[in-house]
Amino acid sequence: MSTVTLHIERFDPTVDRKPHMQTYVVEVAEDDRVLDALHEVRWHQDGTLAFRRSCAHGVCGSDAMVVNGHNRLACILLIKDVGHEITIEPMRGLPVLKDLVVDMRQFFDQYRSVQPWLHAEPPPPGSRERLQSPEERARYDDTTKCILCAACTTSCPVYWSNDRFVGPAALVLAHRFLFDSRDEATAQRHDILDGRMAAWGCRTAFNCTDACPRHIKVTQAIEEVRRDILRGGD
Ligand code: SF4
Ligand code: F3S
Ligand code: FES
Repeated sequence: MSTVTLHIERFDPTVDRKPHMQTYVVEVAEDDRVLDALHEVRWHQDGTLAFRRSCAHGVCGSDAMVVNGHNRLACILLIKDVGHEITIEPMRGLPVLKDLVVDMRQFFDQYRSVQPWLHAEPPPPGSRERLQSPEERARYDDTTKCILCAACTTSCPVYWSNDRFVGPAALVLAHRFLFDSRDEATAQRHDILDGRMAAWGCRTAFNCTDACPRHIKVTQAIEEVRRDILRGGD
């Protein structure tokens, strides 16, 4: 066992006028994650600390936060990889509800704005499946991995200065359906994405790609969406 010092940004809008940092020292085991240290604080030192988590295994996307300046999922980040002096802040660019919990409504509205579902007529009579070759499936495999954690969008400098930009996560989901061979709404999707608040808002900062815990090639996906718009689809 060893100790780790956590500097955590605290903010309770019912009593605080502005955020402040609070320091906790907790005991951790060699392979503990940042999430374990946060649990230690909440369960044994300060039950008022607010943060989200659900699966605790990198699947649900609920515990993205800024750890030592980088957007990360606390549940898959080992303390030994970040050091024993750790600063934790809420994701930037979304309103803080309390401590490390941000209001995700704007993020999910932007996600919905790209119509992240399949547009397709029912399969032909007598057929129960829409067939797709392995190559066609592979075309959008990378962007199916998104867990909607918002680490990419809240690391994007364009998004920080303009919350009308849909952000990289929405563009990743746009990619996932645009390149699905079963989808029949290419023109409609291009209309939604062809603008400065969508595909053309990105300034290729690459923060999103660095932040993604699923290692999705986010910037590349955005570039592929742009090229598809220029080509007018295949
Ligand atoms: Fe999170 Fe990556 Fe999806 Fe962005 S693309 S929401 S960082 S999983
Ligand atoms: Fe933002 Fe990613 Fe583009 S960080 S500017 S969406 S490359
Ligand atoms: Fe689910 Fe971290 S708690 S991804």
